[in-house]
Amino acid sequence: MIKVQFAARAERWDSYETPLNTAFLQAGLDVDLRQDHPAQEVDYVVYAPNSDLQDFTRHSACKAVLSLWAGVEKITGNPTLTMPLCRMVDPGLTAGMVEWVTGHVLRYHLDIDHSLATQDRWAPKIPPLAQERPVTILGLGALGSACASALTALGFPVTGWSRAPKQRDNITCEHGAKGLQRALSTAEILVLLLPDTPDTKDTLRAETLALLPRGARIINPGRGPLIDDDALLAALDSGQVGHATLDVFRQEPLPLDHPYWAHPGVTVTPHIAAETRAVTAAQMIAENIRRGETGAPFLNQVDRKLGY
Ligand code: NDP
Ligand code: OXD
Repeated sequence: MIKVQFAARAERWDSYETPLNTAFLQAGLDVDLRQDHPAQEVDYVVYAPNSDLQDFTRHSACKAVLSLWAGVEKITGNPTLTMPLCRMVDPGLTAGMVEWVTGHVLRYHLDIDHSLATQDRWAPKIPPLAQERPVTILGLGALGSACASALTALGFPVTGWSRAPKQRDNITCEHGAKGLQRALSTAEILVLLLPDTPDTKDTLRAETLALLPRGARIINPGRGPLIDDDALLAALDSGQVGHATLDVFRQEPLPLDHPYWAHPGVTVTPHIAAETRAVTAAQMIAENIRRGETGAPFLNQVDRKLGY
């Protein structure tokens, strides 16, 4: 019997218990899933970084910690978490992110805010076609790649930027510092889907914001520290950045006195771009446990040195 500990906020147990047990059965795994196994007997931990479990020293037999979150910046530095750590790549979460990003790109592209605010006063403003609106996505991982494909299918010319060089059909792929400059220089709409690591902090700061086409729009469902907030506010005030839709922040919930709330150039959303979906995520977790039990490499294992 494989002992799996579910370590997440209590309310998550209700939504995950049945999907996880169903996925384990479907994968042919004999699992005892609980919130409270004795630590030294646990084989795998299904983990949300905001759970009470922060000290893994007594999890001496644990073969892997399987995160329910895609972003793992809160756990990569935990010195007691020495076993393999896998981040969440969930088809349901990916579909949600594609819908959220596509929705906000189309909102900017079609200037839907203007139409809603003014009803155009019968002075029609015809937007360009998608093929005339370059979009750049920083981060071409599970989420950035899926968003890039969806936007390409709609006709947007998409440039993506990643750490390592990549080749993708119909996407201009950039990497490295010079690649970032090129990727930003064409970005009428910029989407941030990078992880929060020491290397990605302040990717958008005064000098990089200055590389964008004037009036560029920014969509950040990645992580708050990717942006230097003061630099973004200055760029919004000067008109260098036309508008920003921000889903993630250095401090969450965003403090009520933060200037983003009142700024006319900012839309704040409360970290809702994409949610892990229990049924599809449970299948991914079952597959990783199956792999762990058969000696196959885990999927989506975090590289501790890189931080993602
Ligand atoms: P992945 O790990 O699959 O992809 C990360 C991408 O970022 C990769 O393309 C990687 O490059 C690139 N990258 C990492 N470091 C650098 C760097 N220093 N320079 C250039 N590129 C870099 O992550 P996901 O796509 O699954 O998720 C991305 C992020 O989205 C998560 O880390 C999380 O913060 C956020 N997220 C937000 C949600 C929300 O609701 N707002 C929901 C889920 C996730 P390479 O391909 O070369 O490795
Ligand atoms: C995640 C998130 O990382 O919800 O999964 O942001």
